[in-house]
Amino acid sequence: MNKLCILIINGPNLNILGRREPDLYGDMTLKEINNKITNYAEERNVDVEFFQSNIEGEIINKIQESIVGAYDGIIINAGAYSHTSIAIRDAIASCKIPVVEVHISNVFKREAFRCHSHLAPVCVGSIVGFGYVSYVLSLEYFILSNEPPS
Ligand code: DQA
Repeated sequence: MNKLCILIINGPNLNILGRREPDLYGDMTLKEINNKITNYAEERNVDVEFFQSNIEGEIINKIQESIVGAYDGIIINAGAYSHTSIAIRDAIASCKIPVVEVHISNVFKREAFRCHSHLAPVCVGSIVGFGYVSYVLSLEYFILSNEPPS
C-alpha cells in the first residue's frame, strides 16, 4: 500500500496560537503543534502536509484540491468557521476523501454558539478538547482505518 498522505488544515486565528487565550488553547504555537504532528507522522510512516489560512475562500480552495487525489484524508480545525460556514461544509461534502473535524478546546464546555458545528454532519467524526493531541488522535484514526486486516 502507498504511504498515506494527510492534509491538516487550520482556519482563522489558529496562526496566533501560543499568544491567543492560552488558558483556553494552551501555550504551544501552531509551529510547535505542527512539529509534534510531524514527529508522530514520521514514527508512524505517514506523510502530512499543513495549510493555515484566515480566509474562508482559501480554505475552500485547499479542500477542493483534494479532488485531484493528492491526499488520503483531511484533518480540519476550521476555528470559528466551524460554527458559521455553510460554504466550508459544502466543500467538505463534495470531498471524495474522509474528513475529521478537530478542536483544541472542548467546544461543548464553552458558549452555546460553539456547541453547533456546520461541519460535523459531513465529517467522519470529530475529536475535541485534547489540545494538540486532538490532531494526533485524528491522524491515528487515518492510520488505523487504513491498516489491512490482520
Ligand atoms: C477552536 C474552537 C472554536 O470555537 C474557536 O473559534 C477557535 C478554536 C478550537 O480549536 O478549540 O478558533 O476551533
